[in-house]
Amino acid sequence: MNYYKIDSLEKYFKIYNKSVREPEEFWGRVADENFIWYQKWDKVLEYDMINADFKWFKNAKLNIARNCLDRHLNKRGDKTAIIFEPNNPDEAAQHITYSELHERVCRMANVLKEKGIQKGDRVCIYLPMIPELAVSLLACARIGAIHSVVFAGFSASAVASRIQDSECKMVITSDGSYRGNKAIDLKGIVDEALQTCPSVESVLVVNRTNSEVQMKEGRDHWIQPLLDAAAKDNVAEIMDAEDPLFILYTSGSTGKPKGMVHTTAGYMVYTAFTFKNIFNYKGDDVYWCTADIGWITGHSYIVYGPLLNGATTVIFEGVPSYPDFSRFWDIIDKHKVNQFYTAPTAIRALAKENLSYIEKHDLSSIKVLGSVGEPINEEAWHWYNNHVGRKTAPITDTWWQTETGGIMIAPLPFITPTKPTYATLPLPGIQPVLMDERRNEIDDNQVVGSLCIKFPWPGIARTIWGDHQRYIDTYFSAFRGKYFTGDGALRDEVGYYRITGRVDDVVIVSGHNLGTAPIEDAINEHPAVAESAIVGFPHDIKGNALYGFITLKERGEGRDRDNLRREINEHIASHIGPIAKLDKIQFVSGLPKTRSGKIMRRILRKIAEGDFSNFGDITTLLNPEIVEEIKNERID
Ligand code: WT7
Repeated sequence: MNYYKIDSLEKYFKIYNKSVREPEEFWGRVADENFIWYQKWDKVLEYDMINADFKWFKNAKLNIARNCLDRHLNKRGDKTAIIFEPNNPDEAAQHITYSELHERVCRMANVLKEKGIQKGDRVCIYLPMIPELAVSLLACARIGAIHSVVFAGFSASAVASRIQDSECKMVITSDGSYRGNKAIDLKGIVDEALQTCPSVESVLVVNRTNSEVQMKEGRDHWIQPLLDAAAKDNVAEIMDAEDPLFILYTSGSTGKPKGMVHTTAGYMVYTAFTFKNIFNYKGDDVYWCTADIGWITGHSYIVYGPLLNGATTVIFEGVPSYPDFSRFWDIIDKHKVNQFYTAPTAIRALAKENLSYIEKHDLSSIKVLGSVGEPINEEAWHWYNNHVGRKTAPITDTWWQTETGGIMIAPLPFITPTKPTYATLPLPGIQPVLMDERRNEIDDNQVVGSLCIKFPWPGIARTIWGDHQRYIDTYFSAFRGKYFTGDGALRDEVGYYRITGRVDDVVIVSGHNLGTAPIEDAINEHPAVAESAIVGFPHDIKGNALYGFITLKERGEGRDRDNLRREINEHIASHIGPIAKLDKIQFVSGLPKTRSGKIMRRILRKIAEGDFSNFGDITTLLNPEIVEEIKNERID
């Protein structure tokens, strides 16, 4: 039996059962038959779910960039690896073959080495969605440098804190970026960030917008002349299975962002396996994931998963609304996209627009649709199914996280019967469990609980950069011996999972994972603000939006409220990024607190949602009278 390709429901159950009964045998076979290794493993898995210690493919040697590129050169060197669709539809799309991509990655790898980057060094990548972004990831992987991609919508201080945390030696950026009709000065943001980043020795700059930038002598270099001068061959570094491949920051419910560390072999095997089975990619299909490579979705399912499978992957620089709301449909039609993977927030935004945007395009190439990032509501699911999938393309609702490396629960197209709003069944190797309030595993179906995973899988993050204790505390302590996802879920009568949303202080806004604590920290820095509490509330397009309850210091009391609101949002935009701005800001005279001083977010969440029933017992509050005031002045 070929374990790499599941082609029927019967085979899914067979493989799934095998993966649970004999995980080492299962993953060992998948790894053995589908990749190239310098040296095979001594043991497929060693693990400890208490101390969060995982070793997959122990002592194996490999290079993931070689698996993405070199391996395909004989068979499909002339096949398109990347289709680049620029922001401006009048600018020609680029088709980059596997051979060309290989050469570009080798040149970049040589430039990195020449600039002193060695195996294990961290490189921060702050680039728009242009081919150089994928090339940079692969070049780092090729020489064994650890990439840390920072989404190019983050502010200077967010960039700085990420660079500082992992002590990056280099930054790869561009002069600017195009997003719709805006041009953003990325290099200026990097310059500002680097004022507080002494670890950075050099900055490589891609010329994308031809805009004027400051180049700091000795530190900053235009990348193109260096690439032109570099050799076009590069011998890939021999990496250990557990050598870190990348760090990717994700927000937590408390404190500073967590640098999730993914390692080489397990991540490779898991992203390749899941891509292959979830998107039903075949032959010369064109696959397009609309996420940004700055998020895990882009790492795993724009770059690594597709390239490991020799697929053609689209990189789109722009936004769905530019030049108008037909842009996605235009791109699908233009490049004859077969698999289309996007987020519910985009679907909802596009569903609000006139159907003529979609109807004037031929979407008949679409075979499979994917959804990711947040629960997809029923209405959006049907719109996606009717208008984009023309009721023939199955929708795969993929549940996973930055920490999981790859997709965990999702229907396999043409195999698993779909059910709107359900992510359905776990992938082979994934053992989800629901836990009740007493921290016991729930065996029955038709229940809700906290979603945990009780056995390791190859794609699991290995640690938080520089803080393994925080990794244990965040993910392995709430339910001893299990990985806690932070999500709640419902399991129906046939065992399908439906993710109900976060059970912690993380809010998913437009598919972006935002911890409320860092936003509160930023707000509290404003001189007029005494204290703040942020909660999410349901929003038609964004899924959730942010509602802030803020108390002012005396000096803030006399200030004009709308000006203050504007200032606070500007402050958030410059400290975290525009995505974290608050939709509603209510100034209050106090926040509901427990006697131990903890803000009762549960109550604030209900008020923000407009649900005044069932606040629960508020008599234990230090200041129960405040609830009435907050309720009465709620912003609708
Ligand atoms: C959180 C992880 C995984 C890539 C994008 C986000 C939510 C993600 C789904 C889905 C319901 C989902 C969860 C999860 N989420 N996909 N299909 N259905 N919820 O990665 O930023 O690490 O966020 O996104 O709440 O915990 P992330």
